[in-house]
Amino acid sequence: MADLAATRAATRLDPHRLRTDFPILSTANRFGKPLVYLDSAATSLKPLAVIEAVDGYNREYSSNIHRGIYELAERATGAYEAARAKTARLINAPEPAEIVFVRNATEAINLVAYSWGRRNIGRGDTIVLTEMEHHANLVPWQLLVQEKDGDLEFVPVSDDGLLQLDVYEVLLHLRPKLVAFTHASNMLGTINPVRHMVEMAHAAGALVLIDGAQAVPHMPVDVQELGADFYVFSGHKMLGPTGSGALWARRELLEAMPPFMAGGDMIREVHLRRSDWNEIPYKFEAGTPDIAAEIGMGAAADYLLDLGLDAVRDHERELTRYALEVLPREVPGIELYGPAAEHRGGVVSFNLPGIHPHDVAQILDRSGICIRAGHHCTMPLHERFDLAASARASFNVYTIPEEIDALAIGLREVVRVFDR
Ligand code: ALA
Repeated sequence: MADLAATRAATRLDPHRLRTDFPILSTANRFGKPLVYLDSAATSLKPLAVIEAVDGYNREYSSNIHRGIYELAERATGAYEAARAKTARLINAPEPAEIVFVRNATEAINLVAYSWGRRNIGRGDTIVLTEMEHHANLVPWQLLVQEKDGDLEFVPVSDDGLLQLDVYEVLLHLRPKLVAFTHASNMLGTINPVRHMVEMAHAAGALVLIDGAQAVPHMPVDVQELGADFYVFSGHKMLGPTGSGALWARRELLEAMPPFMAGGDMIREVHLRRSDWNEIPYKFEAGTPDIAAEIGMGAAADYLLDLGLDAVRDHERELTRYALEVLPREVPGIELYGPAAEHRGGVVSFNLPGIHPHDVAQILDRSGICIRAGHHCTMPLHERFDLAASARASFNVYTIPEEIDALAIGLREVVRVFDR
């Protein structure tokens, strides 16, 4: 196995120490094996700070927000709005009012596709996407262009898992209204050169939406520096609760957009035949939201900021480098997809020759190792690589090199079982 000491020395974050913040890591599976959780790209584990923030709301001040004028309700409103400010700080949004709370990145993209899209995309208009998009950043745009008689174009992915920017440049000559791409691929791990891509899109007159679901938990993200127009992410992948997430957009865009969902809290005045909308972000937050989850997301943002996102990125880059070195050396015949560690987040997708990824995942499960198997909501990307499915290991702040060693040992066992 590679030099673990060197791997550790190069990181500034102490994953062994912070693992005690995650109660689930001290549990075992039904075979008595300790948890080796390598499925953080699907959803992350939650630290005590997040669990306690959610619990605190439910135990101590459970009440609705923006409505009651008693102490409990004021406390809930304060905590919910504080979570918005923390979320804004995490991505350096200019103001908390530009953060719309949603259930997840999928809902955020649907919001933009329905609200901005149905007002701004018309017959013959083009939207540029990429071949590496998660279904959440593909299907809402398919529905939109089908309804409006628009077009989709796609930036292709090279064999080594990078976007072909020369083709992107050519597609921008079509003068698209919108360009939407992922910051980091959930299958290949590729971290895209988003700042450069935003500049190119703006020079061509397009607005830009970035899917940051696989980026915000893992690296510093500064929406002002990126210059994007819309940026979306999920809370549950960034150590926060399921049911939390955010859309960030520039104030003038949000102000010009019509509501997505209608109901309570998103209105200023309602009459029987017409209504006026509340100010942003409330115009987009109809109904009682998942208050506890968003408060938990705020706690997750604080937790990540305390760790330092540069340290998080360094840690995950080292882990990825380690995995890309150990797995091909230790696991005969393993096929890895995606670019070098410099250009990728903590995601390693692979196949073992002649063994279905579901079988791989099932056998690893006996050893307490959790990975994802399937198409990872990226069927077109799998088609691009002529794959029906793949297995995927993905990392987070609490992942340690010993877990990659355990994966390598587990995969050797899978190969041995199928060789019999
Ligand atoms: N989008 C999540 C994943 O990649 C669910 O696993």
